[in-house]
Amino acid sequence: MDAIEAILTRRSTRKYKEELPDREIIERVIETGRYAPSGGNSQSTHFIVFTDKTVLSEMAQLVKNEFSKMEAGEDTYISLKNSINASKKGDYVFHYNAPVLIVTANKKGYGNALADSACALENMMIAANALDLGSCWINQLHWLDENNNIRAFMKSYGLKDDETITGGLILGYADGGTPERVPLKRTGNPVDWVSK
Ligand SMILES: Cc1cc2nc3c(=O)[nH]c(=O)nc-3n(C[C@H](O)[C@H](O)[C@H](O)COP(=O)(O)O)c2cc1C
Repeated sequence: MDAIEAILTRRSTRKYKEELPDREIIERVIETGRYAPSGGNSQSTHFIVFTDKTVLSEMAQLVKNEFSKMEAGEDTYISLKNSINASKKGDYVFHYNAPVLIVTANKKGYGNALADSACALENMMIAANALDLGSCWINQLHWLDENNNIRAFMKSYGLKDDETITGGLILGYADGGTPERVPLKRTGNPVDWVSK
C-alpha cells in the first residue's frame, strides 16, 4: 500500500481481537510517530505505551470512575458528554479493550504541544493501516489531564510533572481481520482555491 492509499483508506477501528501484535510491529508504528515533524524541531512528544492488560483494565476503571463523578452541562462537548453519560450507566470502556494504548504527552505551556502530538498520532494511524492494524484516536485522558487521580496514575507510568496529556491512540488487529477501509463521505472540510 502506498502512502496516499494508506491515508485515504484509514478508518477508526473500535472492535479488536485480544491478540497483542508483536512488539516489533508496535515499535514500527511508534517510530512513525517519533518521525513526525515538530514545531522548531522540539521533538518533545512523549509516548507512553501500554500493553499490559491488567494495567489497561485498571486505567479503564479509573477513567470510568472519574467521568461518572462529572456532570455534563449544555455546553459540554458532545463526545465528552457521551463519555460522562456512558460512565454513569456503568458499561463504559474508553479504550474498547484494544490490546495497545499509546498515550501522548508534551510540555506544559508549549504552544505546539497539541499540534506536534497530532502530527505524531496521525502518522501512527496511517502506519497502522499500512501494516494491516486497526487504530483509533482516544482522547479521554487528554480531557482528564487535570484530574488528580488520572495524573497520579499516569505519573506512576512515566508522565512527568511538566507534561500535559495531549491525546492517544489504540492499536491492534481489527475484530474482522483487516481494518475497515471504506472512507466516510466528505461533507465538510471545504476547500477554497485562490488562483489565476
Ligand atoms: C482529535 C480527535 C479525537 C478523537 N477522539 C476519539 C475518542 O475519544 N474516541 C473515539 O472512539 N474516537 C475518537 N476519534 C475518532 C473520530 O470519531 C473519527 O476519526 C471520526 O468519526 C471519523 O471516522 P474515521 O476515523 O473512521 O474516518 C477522535 C478523532 C480525533 C481527530
